[in-house]
Amino acid sequence: MTEVYDITIEKSKTSKLSSVDFSDLPFGRIFSDHMFTADYVNGQWTDLKIVPFADLQISPALSALHYGQAIFEGLKAFKNSDNEINIFRPSANLARLNTSAERMCMPEMPEELFLEAISQLVATDVAWVPNTPDSALYIRPVMFATDAYVGVHPSESYKFVVFTCPVGPYFSGAIKVKVETTYSRSFEGGIGFAKAAANYGAAMYATRKAQEEGFNQVIWTDAKEHKFIEESGTTNVMFVINDILITPPAKDTILKGITRDSVITLAKDWNMKVEERKISIDEIIEAIENKSLTEVFGVGTAATVAHISEIGYKGKNYVLPPVSERTFSNKALQTLNDLRIGKIEDTHHWNFSVK
Ligand SMILES: Cc1ncc(COP(=O)(O)O)c(C=O)c1O
Repeated sequence: MTEVYDITIEKSKTSKLSSVDFSDLPFGRIFSDHMFTADYVNGQWTDLKIVPFADLQISPALSALHYGQAIFEGLKAFKNSDNEINIFRPSANLARLNTSAERMCMPEMPEELFLEAISQLVATDVAWVPNTPDSALYIRPVMFATDAYVGVHPSESYKFVVFTCPVGPYFSGAIKVKVETTYSRSFEGGIGFAKAAANYGAAMYATRKAQEEGFNQVIWTDAKEHKFIEESGTTNVMFVINDILITPPAKDTILKGITRDSVITLAKDWNMKVEERKISIDEIIEAIENKSLTEVFGVGTAATVAHISEIGYKGKNYVLPPVSERTFSNKALQTLNDLRIGKIEDTHHWNFSVK
């Protein structure tokens, strides 16, 4: 039986909507009028409500701040030409949230509650969903430990919040990435596969160093030998070599991206050969040099497809084929864009319709 969740809604008395320039939306800085909040107390999600977006009050002893039990998700809602709203693959985000929760000793979120919370929130702020090309309403669920207790122990209480941001395109062009061979984001047995806040903190130092050297991002390599490609920034990475789509396997050191899965599914639909396997930086360099490599790109919710134009490795920069010649990634991007706004048939039932 499907559980019915009673979510109370307190509408904002004023709206910030008229102050927003929808033709120039910076990523993640503009927040819609409302947010959803719930508290986990005595083994139950309680106090389910949609309220005006506002600061939260927290204890300085909040356990998430000290011991890092904090996880989040990122997904998008799109408006089609009939003004209907689709959220892209929310059940996949919920499954990943619960995978992250398990690894971090945090409570699971029931699927019906998650879907109900985000659809009611998006329906409440429906006027905030952009309908311009490459724009969307970004949905950010976050869960964190709320015990006010100084002691290393899984918290007994948690807060779950969902807020949204109207967003334009994430990257404005192709990016330059540096293959990271000193620092690591994650390691076997660690939490790399979880969308845990700690992973992002761990990535900042190397990323900042790479940015000081003129790159946009790093491509992480395995923590043991720094030989095998992992992922890049907030995207999984993909290569097209000899017309084969190759991407590292989503095991425990990388985040199992939902865009990654969608792009792999499309490639298979189009009868393209797909290999999810370990790929070394040496293999990539060789394929660049013998010109069998035709495309390198990141895939993730924020950017969908982030073309990579240059790879830096051990002080040498390798320029990649022009974006205009990249048949597969351009087609995958166009297809995902069209599918999410209902321009083409959603054969895999990825769109979740908000009523
Ligand atoms: C570290 C990392 N890898 C990969 C991804 C791509 O995942 P998805 O396609 O589900 O957004 C993201 C973004 O969520 C990320 O933060």
